[in-house]
Amino acid sequence: MKILLLGKDGQVGWELQRSLAGLGQLLALNSRSHEYCGDLANLSGLAETVRRFAPDVIVNAAAYTAVDKAESEREQAFLVNAQAVKLLAEIAAEQRALLVHYSTDYVFPGQGSAPWREQDAVGPLNVYGESKLAGEQAILAVGCTSLIFRTCWVYAARGNNFARTMLRLASERDSLGVIDDQFGAPTGAELIADVTAHAIVATLRKPALAGVYHLAARGETSWCGYARLVLEQAAAHGIALQVHAEQVKPLTTDAYPTPAKRPANSRLDTQKLQEAFALTLPDWRLGVARMLTEILEK
Ligand SMILES: NC(=O)c1ccc[n+]([C@@H]2O[C@H](COP(=O)([O-])OP(=O)(O)OC[C@H]3O[C@@H](n4cnc5c(N)ncnc54)[C@H](OP(=O)(O)O)[C@@H]3O)[C@@H](O)[C@H]2O)c1
Repeated sequence: MKILLLGKDGQVGWELQRSLAGLGQLLALNSRSHEYCGDLANLSGLAETVRRFAPDVIVNAAAYTAVDKAESEREQAFLVNAQAVKLLAEIAAEQRALLVHYSTDYVFPGQGSAPWREQDAVGPLNVYGESKLAGEQAILAVGCTSLIFRTCWVYAARGNNFARTMLRLASERDSLGVIDDQFGAPTGAELIADVTAHAIVATLRKPALAGVYHLAARGETSWCGYARLVLEQAAAHGIALQVHAEQVKPLTTDAYPTPAKRPANSRLDTQKLQEAFALTLPDWRLGVARMLTEILEK
């Protein structure tokens, strides 16, 4: 089996290089790859890559993910998150390949407190969310066999992440305030990549499993709750910080204005995914604790 992975160096892409490696012949590209074009902003180059490599599975982990910048770069966000995705869907349909794609809870308007189900009405609050929704809709309109995973609050041990920022701020400052009125589940790139590999195998055996799924760790927290867990874990690892977990001040979203509006409710209902693929998703705290062990014990 031939697998094309786009966006190989992003949080999820990096973990997919590991989880997909045992499934077949993997061609993993980033936007700077030479022999094959992996730049989603280069539509003709991208089409040439897919037609030349002729994969059985295309996994698209590349995306324009700069949420605030997207407010002023609408065209680029739509080019990468919608136009390129439509092209991938068209070629996947033509070549009878399975297309795996990632989307976001930002397709939802964020009101209420119930976890979003796959069929709930969408209504993005920002340009990034609009562009990701356009990507999903393009895939579904083309009608290729696809798996679309909507996820939220993604982190990875590699690169910058929220936990590292909290650790730095808590060591540099004597007080720390974090937003406490947006809720979701921090979800590890490792988990997303492992579930993806499992779902690909299952869907190739049973194409009726294709569809849109919500993929997030179990449970929920606010950014403030997330920050507190990070600082608790750091203390347990013997890291000296100026701000302790219980001293983190809860802030409201209004106190921290950003160019892009964020949804207050990023909770995702993952029942459909768990039932379809016979999975039990782990609590968000387990993955965050594991990621912190990796960061702190280096
Ligand atoms: N991060 C989150 O909290 C979150 C939440 C919900 C959904 N998602 C979705 O999950 C998926 C994976 O996200 P992630 O967290 O892994 O994102 P990420 O770490 O920002 O990775 C995205 C990757 O896409 C690449 N990329 C950007 N423009 C590109 C282009 N024109 N051509 C090729 N590659 C390009 C980036 O490479 P460069 O850096 O080299 O440009 C980067 O490696 C995305 O679909 C995202 O929308 C993420």
